[in-house]
Amino acid sequence: MKIAGIDLADDKFPQHVGIIMDGNGRWASERGYSRQRGHNAGMQALKDFLNLLEKTPVHIATLFCFSKENWKRSQDELDGLFQLLRQFYRSEFPTLKKRKVHVLHSGDYAGLPPDVVRIFETMQKETRDNKGKVLNLAMNYSGRDELMRAARRLLLQGGSPEDINEEVLAALLDHPELGDIDLVIRTSGEQRLSNFSLWQSAYAELYFTNIYWPDFSDKDFAEAILAYQGRERRFGAAGEPRESEMLRA
Ligand code: IPE
Ligand code: IPE
Ligand code: MG
Repeated sequence: MKIAGIDLADDKFPQHVGIIMDGNGRWASERGYSRQRGHNAGMQALKDFLNLLEKTPVHIATLFCFSKENWKRSQDELDGLFQLLRQFYRSEFPTLKKRKVHVLHSGDYAGLPPDVVRIFETMQKETRDNKGKVLNLAMNYSGRDELMRAARRLLLQGGSPEDINEEVLAALLDHPELGDIDLVIRTSGEQRLSNFSLWQSAYAELYFTNIYWPDFSDKDFAEAILAYQGRERRFGAAGEPRESEMLRA
């Protein structure tokens, strides 16, 4: 398929994409706007991305919306971010339902405003039988916290050391059914994971772009997919020999 004029191989799309939607604040400050205005613009970029996602073969999108570490921000900013989630529920959830999107939440409910928790519960309940795309919203999420909560669940089940293996631990994550992430995209020029999906991204291809999230367009996504399609994923195995090496053999 073609996205924004860029040719992409239909059979080489990542199945599961993770996005660290970063740069709202810098986008705003470069324009002399409030941080909130940056987050509002980020919400528009998110809506555009969801429209694009619907047309691609990507099946699962895990979006980093709010990290455990983001509580360090001002109360005003925090209130504004939760307000955006409420707005998202009112304005976007009906469309997601119509598209048969299965909405999920990853992260810790503890600490979130009670009505925000209810929104996530409602979205998950009302879409749980949907067979379309999967939209996993990571809010009050961090990778280490998810692993810690998985370990807690194991102990609560009466697990002992010999019960632990990778499969058992993976099954105790927030949404084990989603499996590994194939491609992590981070906007805004930062080249770090900031505690995003640590377990699921162990073998993800990483793609960093300088574009701030509010400016992230179909073309930027297409460029990320194009880069992904050019990568050789080895998972620890020996790579395909290159042509020059084959001649030498
Ligand atoms: C990402 O944008 C949104 C959240 C973390 C909620 P930022 O708010 O981190 O934007 P910058 O990094 O300050 O530009
Ligand atoms: C990561 O961005 C969290 C989200 C995008 C939700 P941050 O802006 O919080 O990350 P740092 O602080 O730059 O590492
Ligand atoms: Mg940031």
